[in-house]
Amino acid sequence: MKSIIINYKAYKEGIDKGLSIAMAANEAAEKTGVEIITAPQFTLLKEISKITKTIAQGVEGVEPGPFTAHITWYEIKKSGAAGTLINHSEKRFAHSKSGQLDYSALRKAIELCKQNQLETYVCVRNLQEAKKVTDMNPTAIAYEPPELISGNVSVSTAKTEIVKEFCELVKSSSNSKPLIGAGIKTAEDVKSSVKLGSEGILVASGVIKTNNFKKAINELVKPLA
Ligand code: G3P
Repeated sequence: MKSIIINYKAYKEGIDKGLSIAMAANEAAEKTGVEIITAPQFTLLKEISKITKTIAQGVEGVEPGPFTAHITWYEIKKSGAAGTLINHSEKRFAHSKSGQLDYSALRKAIELCKQNQLETYVCVRNLQEAKKVTDMNPTAIAYEPPELISGNVSVSTAKTEIVKEFCELVKSSSNSKPLIGAGIKTAEDVKSSVKLGSEGILVASGVIKTNNFKKAINELVKPLA
């Protein structure tokens, strides 16, 4: 089954129209058989999980305990969400000095989720990171080149060769689903993503920032049905 993840990020519209967006997502998923997953702000997780398949926007690799303002697997689980995004470009598991990914912290967060039956959607910025994440076997690995995020040029048009290589790599060396995101706005962008081997897409501004989110969802879902 192909998937769409709608990431609400920290957009105001996600808070203001989040429930209606989730309802539209659920309606489109039921109509087409495509898996549509919403990733709303943390405060909406509980409510939106009752409407449609929902994941958190991130998690930290700590157990519940004395960790103020940390998001744990336990909180996500109790909210009713199915899993979480991990290591999104805007919330990386990076070492503070070098900016390099902290793979052992990332692995720990993924493991904690897996042990607690939460799905893991791990974002990577390039092939090098993807190679390191494949043996962690998350539910899905999502390639999002940071420079295209929030823009109008889609990853499936600007990075065709890398996307192809990424999808082949993930399929041949893990049980994870390859997904791609960044700049996806139209059905054409989704069509080319699938052609390049992706099993779905992540989208934020193309749904959350449009005037007609219902129309946007229905358009993006078509090539995946
Ligand atoms: O997680 C999805 C995201 O980073 C892509 O954002 O606005 O380019 O669709 P956007």
